Amino acid sequence: MIDTKNETINERVDSLLSKMTIEEKVGQMNQYNGFWDVTGPVPEEGTAKTKFEHLKKGWVGSMLNVRGTENVKEVQRIAVEETRLGIPLIIGFDVIHGYKTLSPIPLAEAASWDLEAIEKSARIAAIEASASGINWTFAPMVDISRDARWGRVMEGAGEDPYLGSKIAKARVKGFQGDDLSKNNTIAACAKHFAAYGFSESGKEYNTVDIGTSTLHNLVLPPFKAAVDSDVKTIMNSFNELNGVPVTASKYLQRDILKEKWGFNGFVISDWASINEIISWGHAENKREAAKLASTAGSDMDMEGYVYVRELAKLVEDGVIKEEILDDAVRRILRVKFELGLFDDPYKYCDEENEKQNIGNKSHHDAVLDVAKKSIVLLKNKNNLLPLKKKGQKIALIGPLADEKNSPLGSWRLGSDDNTAISVLEGMQQYKENTLVFEKGLDLVEGNTAFTQQVNINNTDRSKIKEAIAAAKNADVVVMVLGEHGFQSGEGRSRTELDLPGLQQELLEEVYKANKNIVLVLNNGRPLTIEWADANIPTIVEAWQLGSQSGNAIANVLYGDYNPSGKLPMTFPRNVGQVPIYYNYKSTGRPNKESHVFWSHYIDSENTPLYPFGHGLSYTSFEYSNFKIHGEKFSINDEIKVTVDLKNSGEYDGKEVVQLYIRDLFGSTTRPVRELKGFELVPLKKGESKTIEFKLTRKELGFFDNQGNYIVEPGKFKVFVGGSSTTKLELDFELTE
Ligand code: NOJ
Repeated sequence: MIDTKNETINERVDSLLSKMTIEEKVGQMNQYNGFWDVTGPVPEEGTAKTKFEHLKKGWVGSMLNVRGTENVKEVQRIAVEETRLGIPLIIGFDVIHGYKTLSPIPLAEAASWDLEAIEKSARIAAIEASASGINWTFAPMVDISRDARWGRVMEGAGEDPYLGSKIAKARVKGFQGDDLSKNNTIAACAKHFAAYGFSESGKEYNTVDIGTSTLHNLVLPPFKAAVDSDVKTIMNSFNELNGVPVTASKYLQRDILKEKWGFNGFVISDWASINEIISWGHAENKREAAKLASTAGSDMDMEGYVYVRELAKLVEDGVIKEEILDDAVRRILRVKFELGLFDDPYKYCDEENEKQNIGNKSHHDAVLDVAKKSIVLLKNKNNLLPLKKKGQKIALIGPLADEKNSPLGSWRLGSDDNTAISVLEGMQQYKENTLVFEKGLDLVEGNTAFTQQVNINNTDRSKIKEAIAAAKNADVVVMVLGEHGFQSGEGRSRTELDLPGLQQELLEEVYKANKNIVLVLNNGRPLTIEWADANIPTIVEAWQLGSQSGNAIANVLYGDYNPSGKLPMTFPRNVGQVPIYYNYKSTGRPNKESHVFWSHYIDSENTPLYPFGHGLSYTSFEYSNFKIHGEKFSINDEIKVTVDLKNSGEYDGKEVVQLYIRDLFGSTTRPVRELKGFELVPLKKGESKTIEFKLTRKELGFFDNQGNYIVEPGKFKVFVGGSSTTKLELDFELTE
């Protein structure tokens, strides 16, 4: 090992770089998948033999999907002890919502609007992953998406760039902590750069064709927030943007990310995305793909075999400059130094630490806490919830009610199958009621992470009659329906957003027997549940909540936790409305008319089923005394806005107070509402509080079509309330 301890990181990087051959530099830019888990199509060249040979030559800078101290130690040993320069590997893994102990899926966590809880959840994920030898997570995914058909909405923070930016920050902080050189902090990776969430028709890996206004105002802000939070890496994406596969986009990676924003970490390609520049029809062969991607600023090739095969030759032939390699390698080495890998390459490989710090009680307590906070009460007619704790006959029905696998959600390779607390187990803790369970429908066998065969029964009706019988005898029916955890996530786009399989039929049959139904939804994306909304009195959005799922749900159903979540994504009435989102533009014909010539559908409302920001509580909240302090404001002023909030109901509870603005006339048109502030406010029954927001340049401006941030004088509206459809509004005007 090279002794470089007394120099600064940049000096150490430069001194190491000066000793490296071109092949060794290319090696740092090459990442291989490990030998166990696979999270993408296996390229032909991906044999273990080749990988080991390359490792020994120092042609590998990083590995992904190697986990467990023993395995990590082995590959690290080869890199450190068998190669000429002994440069340690950086070990990446998809730690998306926990490692062994699983938090709710990220979309669910976003529904908590609780930045502290979200940061803590990422912290725990980092503690567990690092104890298992991992020092780099491919998270957070910060893709904004408005299309619930896209399976990966479960991995992000929903549709809004303001909420998305706050959550990006919290997650980066949680993973990276205050000091990256500790052995329980890991490098984060904001992904997928950029615009992957806008895949046309919600179809995975598809074309993206968005305008500059959408790019700058919606797509980029959460990435910028991650960069401002010192995120160490960025992953590019599988999509093209306006005709250029983003892996080859100089505009995104060099001009915006590295130059304009000053990002000094490194960019990793997505799985073989450099290779895919060829399938997109933008490069003719690997040599050209390597040239395009490296010049554009993709620093590391994930399992693509393109850089390792082509880059050295391209430099030797004078097609690309060695400085391109130097820049990439500097960035990669810097992160390795910051992680402390040169000081101790085995620092994440302590077996004792691995035994003690994975899956312990305090981690389960924390994921239970954030799971409860992620639940959204969509509807609660006649206050069917909370359930009475004594003397009730409860029928628990549904194919997901006793599920211990599905609630773990997609992306959880580091965890163990069938380890979630099921709703059945959660409800069994409340022993003073009678609980009867009927599945109603079975799951289709073979629901696994990467197979196509993922469904809920759509042929066998034989168990429906038992469910009906149980419902007839019950005071209250709790039905757990939705999507299996593997029906969303990568490669899981859908054209329908209804309850898969025969679940709708089951719901309607049970409803005929007993109308007192609490519908608990488990799903990874907004669903179209118009019939349920019209008929079922109470609906609880419980997503896929991770290891403690059933406990969190039971606690909410029985009122031991008063729900406080708010939707981070709009729920459509039907698929035809998608993409649907709260921050839409007015159009030239926004108003309802008696004729047909206005912006609407003839077969559906324009409004969503449940809007962004919606979520009820067992208590009620009253807003009053909404004020803007001052009368005239210039674009550099700080505008103070206050509102009084009272818990006017019967329970202690929490409200997410949301502030939206509308810039009425702009040099480019502005959305009808834009979230610009929120506060999660706990209030005891009967208690009141004045909530204060500040509006400054940061909140009042937007990006023009050149990507410049501007604030324009003119008329504004400001709205405050418990959802994006709040009616409380005031006007103000900004002067120069
Ligand atoms: C492909 C996915 O798009 C990306 O998010 C993930 O990190 C990599 N595979 C590695 O598993």
